[in-house]
Amino acid sequence: MAKLNINGTVRDVQVENDTPLLWVIREQVGLTGTKYGCGVAQCGACSVHINGEVMRSCAIPVGSVKDSDKIVTIEGISADSSHPVQKAWATVDVPQCGYCQSGQIMAAVALLAKNPKPSDADIDNAMTNICRCGTYQRIRQAVHAAAGNDTGRRADDAPAKSRT
Ligand code: FES
Ligand code: FES
Repeated sequence: MAKLNINGTVRDVQVENDTPLLWVIREQVGLTGTKYGCGVAQCGACSVHINGEVMRSCAIPVGSVKDSDKIVTIEGISADSSHPVQKAWATVDVPQCGYCQSGQIMAAVALLAKNPKPSDADIDNAMTNICRCGTYQRIRQAVHAAAGNDTGRRADDAPAKSRT
């Protein structure tokens, strides 16, 4: 049994301590915006915030989460997709298949909370989530747009770092 504060609501869940937080969020709590990709902390599809830090929930045993920890999922950053990062994502039309995008947005929100005006290099270094559709250029553009950096396009725009 664990007590979890998710998006401001405290929930008691009946699970083994070694259950990945991702499964609790999806199966017990029913918040399915957080996705399963690799299951081994590599892809970032399962990204959530814990006390403001972006974390990969597939690799976090629920028993390691403290009662006082504040977990935020994609559903918790706004009730109506009105978060500036979500709006920038829509304006730039970032998603292709969309599967990775809630994780990408959670990573972007965490980045901008710490660094409101990130450079291309800052974005590439912080945004290590994998997108199989290769939307990295638009992700970078949307982060710049959310940061208020012109339209998100920059004269020195270099190709986004490729990932496999
Ligand atoms: S599913 Fe968690 S990092 Fe890929
Ligand atoms: S939009 Fe398809 S995996 Fe990223």
